[in-house]
Amino acid sequence: MKRLTVFIISLCFLSGCAFKSPPAPANGPRITFNHEEFDFGHVDEGIELEHVFTVTNTGTETLQIEKAHSTCGCTVPTLPKSKLEPGESTTITVKLDTAMKQDQVTKTVDVDSDDPDRPKVILSMYMDVANRHKALAERDKAKILSDAKCIGCHVSQGVGLFGEELYKADCGMCHGEDAQGKVGPCLIRDYNDPAVRKYIWEVTANGSKHRITMPGFIESAGGPLAKEQVDSIVDYLAKLSKK
Ligand code: HEC
Ligand code: HEC
Repeated sequence: MKRLTVFIISLCFLSGCAFKSPPAPANGPRITFNHEEFDFGHVDEGIELEHVFTVTNTGTETLQIEKAHSTCGCTVPTLPKSKLEPGESTTITVKLDTAMKQDQVTKTVDVDSDDPDRPKVILSMYMDVANRHKALAERDKAKILSDAKCIGCHVSQGVGLFGEELYKADCGMCHGEDAQGKVGPCLIRDYNDPAVRKYIWEVTANGSKHRITMPGFIESAGGPLAKEQVDSIVDYLAKLSKK
């Protein structure tokens, strides 16, 4: 018993628990948010959401926020002030377009600063998107294929391309650079099976019956691609799957 007590005391001593002092004031710049996660709860598809994060410099030196950015243009952060003196605060307002989203969605904003301990803080926003307005969703179905705010990333870069280049420009952002899956499922399959090939072609051309996130990409379905381009993507996926 005595040995155990000695053991515990020495453990405490080694870990400093007996003499714990309050955390030392942060030297240098320190980035602190009022919260780093926010849950919008249930929201409708096709609306604009907004959330404001407050950021404070709780350090002892000027904090320089380099940028606040998101990979998808549907999530746009605005940062009014990038230089904060000790004790000073500002806000980061995030505007989020729920067009084409469905079910559980997480969107993130990366905030880069010169805080030596946390050079990148990731702000997360959660939402459960209900596709209640069926008619609106139908109209918005191919927003990434038609809306000026979205086509810059989701379509324009693929114009005139075929095969691998076209896949990387139009599909990689959702299915992963190597088609291993991301927002959309992995597309590495057995393309020797004609049924698989036909199915992949069909969904690429005419979209998913279950999720609005996967619109039809062929011209006759309102998309930007000619039949030969859809063929070339399926050929590329078949080649990729053989590796
Ligand atoms: C700056 C380039 C860019 C722009 C502009 C852009 N997107 Fe995206 N989008 C991406 C990337 C990259 C992804 C891959 C997932 C990610 O990184 O968030 C993506 C993924 C998506 C997804 C998949 C599901 C999800 O939310 O992750 C949807 C839906 C989407 N974008 C809709 C839109 C809509 C609607 C617009 C126009 C309002 C738009 N995007 C504008 C780059 C962009
Ligand atoms: C905005 C994101 C997004 C983009 C861009 C996108 N997809 Fe998809 N894709 C999805 C999602 C999400 C699904 C899942 C649909 C479902 O569950 O019904 C999907 C499903 C598919 C499927 C069916 C897979 C299966 O197992 O059911 C195929 C095939 C496919 N996509 C091919 C493509 C190709 C090829 C491109 C480029 C021309 C592309 N997708 C662009 C999001 C995207």
